[in-house]
Amino acid sequence: MKGLILSGGSGRRLRPLTHTSAKQLVPIANKPILHYVVDDLVSAGVVDIAIVVGDTGDEVRASVGDGSRWGATITYVEQEAPLGLAHAVLIAGDFLGDDPFVMYLGDNMFEDSLDRVVDGFVGSGEAARLLLARVDDPGAFGVADLDDSGAIVGLVEKPVDPPSDLALVGVYLFDAAIHEAVRRIQPSTRGELEITDAIQWLLDDGATIDHRVLDGWWIDTGKKDPLLACNRLVLGRLAGDGVVVDDDAEVVDSTLVGPVVVAAGARIVDSTVGPAVAVGADCRIEGSTVDDSVLMAGSAVIGHRRVTASVLGHEAEVRGAGTVGAVEEIDLSVLLGDHSVVDVSGG
Ligand code: DAU
Repeated sequence: MKGLILSGGSGRRLRPLTHTSAKQLVPIANKPILHYVVDDLVSAGVVDIAIVVGDTGDEVRASVGDGSRWGATITYVEQEAPLGLAHAVLIAGDFLGDDPFVMYLGDNMFEDSLDRVVDGFVGSGEAARLLLARVDDPGAFGVADLDDSGAIVGLVEKPVDPPSDLALVGVYLFDAAIHEAVRRIQPSTRGELEITDAIQWLLDDGATIDHRVLDGWWIDTGKKDPLLACNRLVLGRLAGDGVVVDDDAEVVDSTLVGPVVVAAGARIVDSTVGPAVAVGADCRIEGSTVDDSVLMAGSAVIGHRRVTASVLGHEAEVRGAGTVGAVEEIDLSVLLGDHSVVDVSGG
């Protein structure tokens, strides 16, 4: 099977973070989301991979490269604008040929092994195999409508009145039949060629569409809270209740409460960090308390009593009032773009 990773799009929901960088490169436990996606495909035996990229293509290429580090071959397909998931399949047609493939959204992470999902697809006669997960807010996703026997009979994108609580997870298996479907559909009201419409076209055409319901967690990381939830889960898997501190990081007069990971060049002084914090390369935390947060490379928290549930972009900085004054008592929860500064020192 081939792999098709979608890493274009505009990342509106993670603005301001993704004004300057790709949302698929936001780090979870100090590793870009997109790298977990490649890991997952490669461990399921999928090594011939194309990545669909948009405006942030250069950055994605620089981060992922040609795939040799995974023993994979990665090619890039340029998408001129985020015209929809089905549009991405359309423009990747030459790469995909008639081979069955896994389409994986570059901002999705899930716990179950992809192996189990892929198992037995080739030769099954299924035109598509979908992954579903029960969610509290189905209206935010593509949603499956199932009949009494549990078969999928319909799919709707972000419905106002969801037919079930089963959302489409961003991993889809397709055989070559999808290519005609993506050519036959029209753009939706939001102006995109929807993959849900293409799959609906296959259903209406009498194709066999199977599905699996996920057991473990699944997160569409495109928003701050799911991103932090994912960071907590992956940190827990990686470090348990422990801490992983790079040999080239420095921790002085501080307490780390696991799970915490600290990357090379980071310096933590006179602070309490954790639980659930990923401290990126060359970050500085001084005289502060930080929990449940992602600090990207070069960011800093200086003299603030509590930073919580926050995402700091590259080189972003929070400055508090140190140990004096009242303002530093505020629990600060922020989403800061690269190079942003928040100064609550009152001076
Ligand atoms: O996360 C699961 C959901 O993903 C599904 O439940 C929905 O049915 C599906 O439409 C999709 O919805 P989103 O609104 O979350 O899709 P988003 O625009 O965030 O795009 C998903 C990924 O695909 C993201 O990494 C950006 C990339 N993308 C998106 C579009 C529209 C592209 O590469 N090209 C595109 O044209």
